[in-house]
Amino acid sequence: MSATSPVRPVLPPDIRARKGGEPLVVLTAYSTPVARLVDAHCDVVLVGDSVGMVIHGLPSTLGVTMEMMILHGRAVVRGAQKAMPVIDMPFGSYEEGKEQAFRNAARLMAETGAPAVKLEGGQHMAETIAFLTARGVPVMAHVGLTPQAVNTFGGYKVVGRGEEAEKVMADARAVEEAGAFSVVLEKVPVGLAARITQALTIPTIGIGAGVRCDGQVLVVDDMLGLFTDFRPKFVKRYAELGKTADEAIAAYAAEVRSRAFPAAEHSFADEVPVKK
Ligand code: KIV
Repeated sequence: MSATSPVRPVLPPDIRARKGGEPLVVLTAYSTPVARLVDAHCDVVLVGDSVGMVIHGLPSTLGVTMEMMILHGRAVVRGAQKAMPVIDMPFGSYEEGKEQAFRNAARLMAETGAPAVKLEGGQHMAETIAFLTARGVPVMAHVGLTPQAVNTFGGYKVVGRGEEAEKVMADARAVEEAGAFSVVLEKVPVGLAARITQALTIPTIGIGAGVRCDGQVLVVDDMLGLFTDFRPKFVKRYAELGKTADEAIAAYAAEVRSRAFPAAEHSFADEVPVKK
């Protein structure tokens, strides 16, 4: 499977067909080596716009550009042989209108080789999703908490408690009807996420939405514990790589300062010994 090969082993209809079956396993990746690791175990590798916060140190996803998504998208597509890559559409690249959305989605697909895009929004994005899917752009939708609207929500809140529940349900139904092949439910209460999962014919992929979704997604750096100071409730840490990396870097710094590194085995002799 190469970035230029037209047909990948897993495509949006395969993901859609997994509705109600074995849970879909999704992680983000932003680089080729991490995409290779994710590829070995996951069904979908998401090049999330979380790249802005995770890799580029931005305060939110709002500053992420098309160029960033294309650069990281290409790197991930190179590393993902089996899992299906999906590229996030960055803030400002699709909200203006369906033609703008098509232009940028087509660019993301053509320049990365990914077979699908993801965009945030429910009922108000339905017309755009229908326009894209009718023109060869498979769309993974994203409802509930949509981080690109963090300023409208007033923070990274749980979305869908009380009266808000029916709005999230209507959003999910709207993106399904518009042709999305799956939908991410972010920070949606468990009961509501279960109801949406039951009501839809497309897979729901939860992040902070409980166990009854059709699949789960996490940001790979979060579940690997690469951050020491970021611990949202919905993230389970499967490793503490941040701690391991900190210890390794501290050991390296100490050995450089004490001249314990590099040792003879990491250095080149002036004379090559002659074999007898
Ligand atoms: O940007 C991202 O990584 C995402 C997922 C966490 C759903 O949208």
